[in-house]
Amino acid sequence: MEEGYLHAEDIIQGGRDGEEVSVRGWVYRTRSSGSIVFMLIRDATGIIQATIKKGAVPDEDFALAEKAGIESAVEVRGVVAEDRRAPGGWEIKATGFKPIHIGEVFPISRDKSEEFLLDMRHLWVRSTRLTNVMKVKAVLLAAAREWFADNGWWETTPPIISASAGEGGSTVFSFKYFGREAFLSQTAQLHLEALIFSLEKVYSLTPSFRAEKSRTPRHLTEFWHLEGEAAWVDNEENMRIHEELVSHMCRRAAERASGPLKALGRDPGDLLEIEPPFERITYDEAVERLHDKGLDFVWGDDFGAVEERALTEDLRVPVFVKNYPKSAKTAFYMKEDPSDPAKVLCSDLLAPEGYGEIIGASEREVDNSILIRRLEEQGANLDNYRWYLDLRRYGSVPHSGFGMGVERVVRWICKLEHIRDAVPFPRTPSRFVP
Ligand code: 4AD
Ligand code: MG
Repeated sequence: MEEGYLHAEDIIQGGRDGEEVSVRGWVYRTRSSGSIVFMLIRDATGIIQATIKKGAVPDEDFALAEKAGIESAVEVRGVVAEDRRAPGGWEIKATGFKPIHIGEVFPISRDKSEEFLLDMRHLWVRSTRLTNVMKVKAVLLAAAREWFADNGWWETTPPIISASAGEGGSTVFSFKYFGREAFLSQTAQLHLEALIFSLEKVYSLTPSFRAEKSRTPRHLTEFWHLEGEAAWVDNEENMRIHEELVSHMCRRAAERASGPLKALGRDPGDLLEIEPPFERITYDEAVERLHDKGLDFVWGDDFGAVEERALTEDLRVPVFVKNYPKSAKTAFYMKEDPSDPAKVLCSDLLAPEGYGEIIGASEREVDNSILIRRLEEQGANLDNYRWYLDLRRYGSVPHSGFGMGVERVVRWICKLEHIRDAVPFPRTPSRFVP
């Protein structure tokens, strides 16, 4: 087996009937009839069947093929033949078999509990389902980077360790940093704001951390945050950026991940329907819709999962909700609405089909007296925000930005019940192993 290896996908595509090939991967399933071993071999691209016949390979290889259980690592050499019963319609009739590692009995079998599978996450990441989710996520992230690059944005690398809590003290993780208190970043926003003065349009992809005690199907304590910040952009233009970016990501997913999407139960055609412009409604209109639906919602509160589900369960495309009251959006940095000082110039993008918020965004307050008042109201230590306030002292400009929860987007696109499956190793209040 000295020459190159093919992948399962290369063979299943067809056109290799009768060719002698080599593949390598992990045993997905195997059974033996005594004289033939039917082995399904999994690799990064899919699953291919190999039939290993006694007599067609050396006897000692046949004995090893019989011994190779689920998730053993193997190489097979053989001739490609059509077989309608095999997954993908093709199989390899083995002329050689080589175990790379005969695995111990694999601990994961059918009907294991969710908790057990989470304990075994380091092995469960091999499952077809999680593999498909990871592929979709990779395509979405590549598409986002592509969109930013094509539209004049600069990728930047803001810090994770910080003295300022962008999203307020209640959900911040703090730790001792050489004897002083430091925080894990909840958002890169404040540092991205500093970078617009050199690069104008900047973005970053970083982990963000939130000490969210509530266990919900849409919260992680560590999530991947795709954030953008741009000079000269107001709240309305900000939304145009989000709808273009999200539509591009959806289009690329449909084009480049249609197999994984279908396997996850998402029709790629759904994603091609997602095109700008998205509907924009105000917070007040959203509250009316909730009341029309019979929900008992108090004006002034922020929307939670229940409200966002009600607002989006009948939709097939995302919707913006903009201009929330200050009582609903407590972030200190959102710009006051000049036409209604009780409101802020912000927008949330809600994913359809009940999934809810995927982007939080706003125009930024540039008046330092307002910023200082809000920080004081929140009990923040102003010393940690001096640098941020400096940004409004030296060439301040109108600007806006946003944060997209990557796993929220993946959850929606992949139709996942729980956000933890949108990340290989989920971090929740009760879990940070493996
Ligand atoms: O709405 P959020 O809190 O906004 C910010 O952090 C802004 N500073 C972003 C910015 O303007 N640069 O968070 C942004 C997005 C949410 O819309 C949601 O998609 C996601 O981040 N998110 C979470 N995702 C998973 N688990 C959590 N605990 C999340 N908290 C927020
Ligand atoms: Mg939000």
